[in-house]
Amino acid sequence: MRKIQVFDTTLRDGEQSAGVNLHAHEKLEIALQLEKFGVDVMEAGFPASSDGDFQSVREIAKKVKNCTVVGLARTIQSDIDAVRSAVQDAAYPGIHIFVGTSPIHMKYKLKKTSQEVIDLSVSSVKYAAQFFSHIQWSAEDATRSDWTFLAEIIEKVIDAGATVINLPDTVGYTTPEEYSELFKYIRSNVSNIEKAKLSAHCHDDLGLAVCNTLAAVQGGVDQIEGTINGIGERAGNASLEEAVVALKVRKDFYQAETDVELTQTMRTSQLVSKLTGMMIPQNKAVVGANAFAHESGIHQDGVLKNKETYEIIDPEMVGVTSNKMVLGKHSGRHAFRDKYKQMGLDLTEEEENRLFDAFKDLTAKKKEVTENDIFALMIETSLKG
Ligand code: KIV
Ligand code: ZN
Repeated sequence: MRKIQVFDTTLRDGEQSAGVNLHAHEKLEIALQLEKFGVDVMEAGFPASSDGDFQSVREIAKKVKNCTVVGLARTIQSDIDAVRSAVQDAAYPGIHIFVGTSPIHMKYKLKKTSQEVIDLSVSSVKYAAQFFSHIQWSAEDATRSDWTFLAEIIEKVIDAGATVINLPDTVGYTTPEEYSELFKYIRSNVSNIEKAKLSAHCHDDLGLAVCNTLAAVQGGVDQIEGTINGIGERAGNASLEEAVVALKVRKDFYQAETDVELTQTMRTSQLVSKLTGMMIPQNKAVVGANAFAHESGIHQDGVLKNKETYEIIDPEMVGVTSNKMVLGKHSGRHAFRDKYKQMGLDLTEEEENRLFDAFKDLTAKKKEVTENDIFALMIETSLKG
């Protein structure tokens, strides 16, 4: 089984979500939870971007002991120096240097030629190599970059000392097939590629981030990147919890595994949601409130007979105590009976019929029927239970 490293960027790319502004103590709380979640690399921030970010990366680097802590830097010496001092106390320090490699980024944003971008990348990686043994270099907007150019620059940054090569889908533009092909192309066209790990970093503009991340695993990457709950710039990043659970559930297909402690999934997701103020959609895969809820009578009946009829993820595996049977207009007698028995009620067939009819009438007026509603129906229908 191939090992896939997990790189979390909730505290850097995730914090770039519009409207999110975490305090240093909140970032530390998330970092410590990410450590429990078992990520291999944590991007704690962008130290050169502000004094606050610098301090919080420094604090995280001091406290987190079980994973690599990296800070982001442009190809500028002062950015590299800022990361260097911010992560100096980390048990496993690292740096993440990025530069735009697509024609549009080089021409309009950087105003540099492709040769200048190569020179900057090589000199910044060489400079960082004096201080770091873990150096990730990212080709920003890789998926809109020229593949021949990517192969050329990657070979040079690996020679300069880069240990991880990340090819981000910065604007969420690629497709699963194309992204997987890109990694295969790089692996076969960069002569020194075995000296570095390959990493995938996806954004969700077309709703394909997790799908593209998993396609990259098929394309042979060694590391996947993402954020908890998929928070991040614009439509966000790949949801890390979705990607790692997909790898676990479809291990047979991907033939790859991570070291993530999946039982910490729900706790990590809830904490990030609470501290960032970004609500989790109810129907979100893995961590949404409805992810393990069943409402239709046919589904409830199936699940009561054998959970695997409609559940492919064991709720306990991701830290959810149990699935949930929602009593509503689609529910059938089987789930209704199961519910009143759980409530400690013992009814004759005739009593059950009366109560079930009253319950069905109520579902026409109310979306979800609760235990309290059932007790109220008992009184209305003059049942003692
Ligand atoms: O999406 C992106 O390109 C990034 C880089 C900084 C790696 O987040
Ligand atoms: Zn990004």
